[in-house]
Parts: sequence; C-alpha cells; structure tokens
Amino acid sequence: MKFGVLTGGGDCPGLNAAIRAIVLRSAQHGHSTLGFLDGWKGVRDNLARPLLPADVARIVGRGGTILGSSRTNPFSQEEGTRAVLETLSANGIDVLIAIGGDDTLRAANALHARGGRVIGVPKTMDNDVAGTDWTFGFDSASSVAVDALERLRDTAESHHRAIVLEVMGRNAGWVALATGLAGGADVTLVPEEPYREESMLGHVRAACDARGYALVVVSEGIDLGSKAGSTGGKDEFGHELLRERGVGAELARRIERSTGIETRSAQIGHIQRGGAPTLFDRILATRLGSAAVDLALAGRFGEVAVLRGAHVTGIPLAEAVGTSRLVSPEWIDLLHTFEA
Ligand code: F6P
Repeated sequence: MKFGVLTGGGDCPGLNAAIRAIVLRSAQHGHSTLGFLDGWKGVRDNLARPLLPADVARIVGRGGTILGSSRTNPFSQEEGTRAVLETLSANGIDVLIAIGGDDTLRAANALHARGGRVIGVPKTMDNDVAGTDWTFGFDSASSVAVDALERLRDTAESHHRAIVLEVMGRNAGWVALATGLAGGADVTLVPEEPYREESMLGHVRAACDARGYALVVVSEGIDLGSKAGSTGGKDEFGHELLRERGVGAELARRIERSTGIETRSAQIGHIQRGGAPTLFDRILATRLGSAAVDLALAGRFGEVAVLRGAHVTGIPLAEAVGTSRLVSPEWIDLLHTFEA
C-alpha cells in the first residue's frame, strides 16, 4: 500500500509524533508513505516528499510539523476537489491520512463522500473535536499556559496587581479551564458560560482583599457583551481571527476602571502552539497515528482514530465533524469551587 499523509489547520505539539507513528507503523507492514506539504494545499497542488523511516527517526519530541500546514480548503471549489483526486491518483496513493482539527477532518469527510480513501487523526490545542476524549496538542498548550500563569503570579504578587492572562481555544474554553484549574486562577472565563461582569469583579476584589493580588484567565472566544475589538478578519474556513479581539486587554481595562486596582494583561498567543510535546501528547499522537494505519489496513476508510476512555478505536468521520466538543457544565461547576 502507498499511504499519503498531511497535517492541516493550526499546528500543535504532537504532529511530528503522529507523522512518525504513521511512517513507522506502515513501514513495519511493508508499506510506504508520501508526505503532502502544507495541509490540503499540498494535495491540491501536488507538493509532496517521500517519508522514509530515517526521516522520522528523531522527530517524536519536535514541535511544529515537518510537513508544514495551512488552512487551505480545496473542497470549497469544484476545481480544488478535482485537483485533489488527480494528485492522489497521479501519486498512486491508496489511502490518505489527514491529521487535523474539525476543518481538516471536515475536508477529509468531503473527500470520503467523493469516493476517496481517507482516514482521520484528530489534533488541536483547542481540544474541541467531537467523538474523542482528548486531542493531542491540548496538554502541551495548556502546560505552557499554566507556566505563564505561574510566572504572572510572581509579578502580580510583587506589585499587588491584578493580571489577566488571555489564552487561545477558539470557541471552546478547554485551555482556559485547564489553565485556571491547574494554575490556581482566582477567576476563569470560558465562552461556554455567559459573562457576568459583576461576578468577575467580585472575585478579583475578594482575591485582592485576601492576598493583595488577583489572577484572571480568559479564553479568547468569550463574548464580553460588545462587538468592540472584532476585526471581521476571517480564515479560509470562515472563522473569525479571535486573537485580534483582545479580550484580555479589554478585561484589564474594565477591572482597573471599576475597582481601581492596577491591572495588566498578557496574551500568550502562538507561544502555546510551539515547543516540544508533553509526554501525554507524544503517547496519544503515537497511538492515534498507529491506529490510523491499522484502520486503513483493515479497510475501514472514512473513519477517524479516536481516544475513548483508555482505548483507541475508530469512528466514522461524520461523527467527529460538524459539532464542537465544548466544556460541559460539570467542568464549569468544578471550576467555581476554586475561585476566590
Ligand atoms: O485552532 C487552533 C488555534 O490556535 C485557535 O486556538 C486560535 O484561535 C487559532 O488557531 C489561531 O489561528 P492562526 O494560527 O491562524 O492565527
């Protein structure tokens, strides 16, 4: 068999571990792998490089993706779809493994609907792919954010300030939730819970009264009740560029204005997406990449490898795309236990 592999959407730690797993698992069974460059763009424009076991031998702990990535959606136009099918046939690809988040997997599902043989591997620091318990990239990104929060604690305590940390996550609050819980924030704001300014200010005041400083974690996707900050800028899949909204900076302004407490904000942005994957992400990416090859060898095209509890299995791509997995009320309830 000849495997094709691509990494699409925002990069995250663990992608190289998944690529390595696909190449080595397929080689173990006597098959070869061709890597497409820059996500779906590489499949559409026929940009590829062979991936030999030696090429992936040392990449398990490397951040980013050796294949490059993009947010290209070739299926938005008929010529794009045709070009994808032509590239796959010209290169003799028997099955394509698409590693990505919701957008990339949706494109994979579109290919499946056109009769293409494709298997998905879910990844994203946002942790919002439906059908899987966790996505790789999330643990690494959240660990970076927790480290940032702990650094902010030192300076907030020294200067008796409030500090707001804005983290990524698109419309899901998983990264903010994990950062707030694991880093001990006084208040954590996620998009899944309606924003209540008085309550947020109450937590900040309580923390400052008790210890002289406060830490707030906010997810970039939160709705602060005004369209201010929205740029209208969108990516190829139609998602608003949330970073530009600057909700962390806006919150800091509101806190200082209402409480008189000196407040700063920090937006760590793409720092969360770089660097070496954590142990959890290396293992998860390795298991899912290997499982994708196994699904292909079993002829289970149109499926995506997922983590359910302690087990890795395959489910139809259609079940993983279209809806986002959001933070549930149970998690939000837990979060409130630890607020100031
Ligand atoms: O989907 C991953 C993610 O990092 C989101 O958390 C964030 O909103 C977005 O990508 C940023 O996209 P870009 O890298 O295109 O700026």
